[in-house]
Amino acid sequence: MIKNNDRAICLLLYFLFGFILQAQAQVSIIPQPASMELKDGYFILDENTSIRFKPGNRELAALGAYFSNHISEVAGYTLPLNKKKGKSIRFVLERMADVGAEGYKLSVSPSAILIKANTRAGIFYGLQSLLQTLPAVRTNQALQVPCMEVTDEPRFGWRGMMLDVSRHFYSIETIKEFIDLLALYKMNTFHWHLTDNEGWRLEIKKYPKLTLVGAWRQEIPGSVFYKQDSTYKEPLTGRPYTYGGYYTQEQAKEVVAYASARNITVIPEIEMPGHSGAALAAYPEFSCTQHPQQVPNSTLWNGVTDPAEISLNYCAGNDSTFLFLQDILKELMVIFPSAYIHIGGDEVDKSYWEKCPRCQKRMADENLENEEELQSYFIRRMEKYLLAHNRKLLGWDEILEGGLAPSATVVSWRGEKGGIAAAKQGHNVIMSPSDPLYFNRYQAGPEGEPFAAKYSINTLERVYNYNPYPEALSSAETKYVLGGQFAIWTEFISSVEHLEYMLLPRMPAIAEALWTPLEKKDFESFVNRLNQWHFIAWEQQGIRFHPLYYKSRTHEASRK
Ligand code: ACM
Ligand code: ZN
Repeated sequence: MIKNNDRAICLLLYFLFGFILQAQAQVSIIPQPASMELKDGYFILDENTSIRFKPGNRELAALGAYFSNHISEVAGYTLPLNKKKGKSIRFVLERMADVGAEGYKLSVSPSAILIKANTRAGIFYGLQSLLQTLPAVRTNQALQVPCMEVTDEPRFGWRGMMLDVSRHFYSIETIKEFIDLLALYKMNTFHWHLTDNEGWRLEIKKYPKLTLVGAWRQEIPGSVFYKQDSTYKEPLTGRPYTYGGYYTQEQAKEVVAYASARNITVIPEIEMPGHSGAALAAYPEFSCTQHPQQVPNSTLWNGVTDPAEISLNYCAGNDSTFLFLQDILKELMVIFPSAYIHIGGDEVDKSYWEKCPRCQKRMADENLENEEELQSYFIRRMEKYLLAHNRKLLGWDEILEGGLAPSATVVSWRGEKGGIAAAKQGHNVIMSPSDPLYFNRYQAGPEGEPFAAKYSINTLERVYNYNPYPEALSSAETKYVLGGQFAIWTEFISSVEHLEYMLLPRMPAIAEALWTPLEKKDFESFVNRLNQWHFIAWEQQGIRFHPLYYKSRTHEASRK
């Protein structure tokens, strides 16, 4: 009798608990919306649900097709567009004062779904939220969307990722996969690190050797980049082999269009005056020594090399260097319509310039006190060119040294101090402190993780808790902080699987940090939402992620 009672109670608890879990599982949107009110009831989405928008609006038609395509992945059917009768999902563009350019309102009732926004970007983000209310995996069951009212907009206008494709090259298929992931989490900026010492990755028609020579290097098995990367298998011969790749201009344009359709701006980075070993292997006449050299291979780490043998910097005393770089930017600006162009500026080894008579003459002619001021001269000269073409200059925080170019925007990577100094000078700032926003570092620690950059352990929680507003800035000064971005440097990341693992789940964590109002952020809720929807969706799609916070029973079992 007692036993039976216990069983009844157990069953009751089981159902009650199941019910509560189900109620919680209804909506697991990341980033957490600014305002979301769940209501009773569901909208049942089926193949007769029409997507409606103002006929003739091509942008909304494209979003309708995009959403329908996603429905077909989950449910196996597409949705009709602008059918007169029946239930609908409506996209409406209208002036709304209470949400900004990227904001939206999503309203779900049993009879209709309505997404309203000021712009196409807002409708796109409303759709991303809606997609995350659908099942995370393919299903034959009816699609139930919980009734709700969402009013949402981002905390920061700049929500970015930097990806290094020089140290290891990734195909445009992989770039598009990453753009899709960024879009799902409402990130809007892709900073594409296209050049570095170890490889030049963009076709430049006027200077074909940049890719003929600069995109390929002789790789040495067992060298520092690969040493402990568990995903890497050495060629059987153990002999050096050619590694590389590049994007044609057509491919780069395709990426720009793909990203733009997902509200993502692609910002190209062409490194100068340092980190330029690959370009100088192709065109040694623009280095200080002008000696022929090879593209540095992966024995190079953070510019540790013998400067007598290999040049990593452009010569700042040679006018033809500037003309060469301007020609490159000219072609670049046709491919990339972004308001900003990133010119690098980090980690310049000034010893080349100290020994170069041309650079020293430039310093004398221009009354420059030291090599820091020569770097500043270099960047200012490039800024003039960009401004004359209606583009703005973006650079790493070293561009502060020797004096900031007049309207430069600074990406603060060596902590926040560069960002703070730039904001105090009235310059715009993007926060990307390596601790905790460099995703080439460990997520929990060296134990059980592939070899990674050391320095700090950039855990999920530390990434989640990152706030781009430093205490050192007054509220008037914080207006210069446009937002933040994480970075993935790929010295030690040689496969797509490894790249995904470094990205996830840290990218949704920074996405929430950059989107959601501070008072709505909650790490435990974030982890629960990851488990209720996101881990499951990635797993179904075969996308790798770091499993520390994954609570699935199968995973627990596999760890025992
Ligand atoms: C950097 O990490 N050198 C920008
Ligand atoms: Zn020089």
